[in-house]
Amino acid sequence: MKISTLFLGGLASLAAAQTPAPYTDAKSGITFNYFAHSSGYFFGIALPENSTGSTDFIATLGGKGTGWSGVSLGGVMLNKLLILSWPNGQSIVSSFRKTANYGSPAVATGTFTQTPIANGTYVNGTHWTYTFLCSKCILSDKTTFASTETAPSLGYALNAAAPAQKTTPSASVTKHTAQGQVVFDLTKAKSKDFDTWKSWAVPPKVARDFEG
Ligand code: HEM
Ligand SMILES: *[C@@H]1O[C@H](CO)[C@@H](O)[C@H](O)[C@H]1NC(C)=O
Ligand SMILES: *[C@@H]1O[C@H](CO)[C@@H](O)[C@H](O)[C@H]1NC(C)=O
Ligand SMILES: *[C@@H]1O[C@H](CO)[C@@H](O)[C@H](O)[C@H]1NC(C)=O
Repeated sequence: MKISTLFLGGLASLAAAQTPAPYTDAKSGITFNYFAHSSGYFFGIALPENSTGSTDFIATLGGKGTGWSGVSLGGVMLNKLLILSWPNGQSIVSSFRKTANYGSPAVATGTFTQTPIANGTYVNGTHWTYTFLCSKCILSDKTTFASTETAPSLGYALNAAAPAQKTTPSASVTKHTAQGQVVFDLTKAKSKDFDTWKSWAVPPKVARDFEG
């Protein structure tokens, strides 16, 4: 009995840590190198064909239900640029975060911006999906991966529980129920269509939904 329980536990953790693979979102038509977690969390990234010196990427971040999903652009949680998002009804609330301590990360300020891509941003019967252009998001201060890296570790974190103040982008969240780091093969994130997709990013009418 004990042995089979342990064995199932091992299978469960293997299932939770899938390797990122190319995935095209049917609603936007954008192709990402995409990590899907067994919880329903996902994070995908798209880059220009020649990303050397570029500071921009397109990302899709989401999950199942109404909880929060986060990504660490530097892999670990501490002292890295984080993106934290969750749904609020049919819209998405998102912010940049950073923290030096384990606890709900404070809003991070800088020249980086996130601008939604409308047809890649939606809430359906099961999941929420936020697709956005992240501009000036690849930094040279080691708080993010570098544009020349081919296999950086990025961090994921999620909690199926929605933040108490879900209309407020700077709201604090409770600790993730699952988190980890995943190696992304960025050669599989590059596309010659990047500039076309980038042109689809339009600032939202309700600016307060998107902070940073
Ligand atoms: C109250 C809020 C939070 C607390 C108390 C917290 C605490 C922690 C702790 C203690 C760890 C080490 C592993 C563990 O023992 O579980 C960790 C890992 C991690 N956290 Fe958080 N966290 C919080 C929120 C967040 C948020 C909002 C994000 C992303 C947007 C995030 C991203 C990560 C990632 C990617 C890891 C795995 C990599 C690593 O160990 O650094 N965390 N967190
Ligand atoms: C998504 O929107 C863009 C314009 O904003 C459009 O060009 C593109 O075809 C749309 N994607 C799909 C799959 O319809
Ligand atoms: C990629 O872009 C960089 C910076 O603009 C440039 O120096 C390099 O020659 C480009 N590489 C290719 C293969 O076009
Ligand atoms: C809802 O969106 C998610 C994320 O794109 C997708 O995986 C899922 O199949 C969609 N569900 C339905 C019922 O369309």
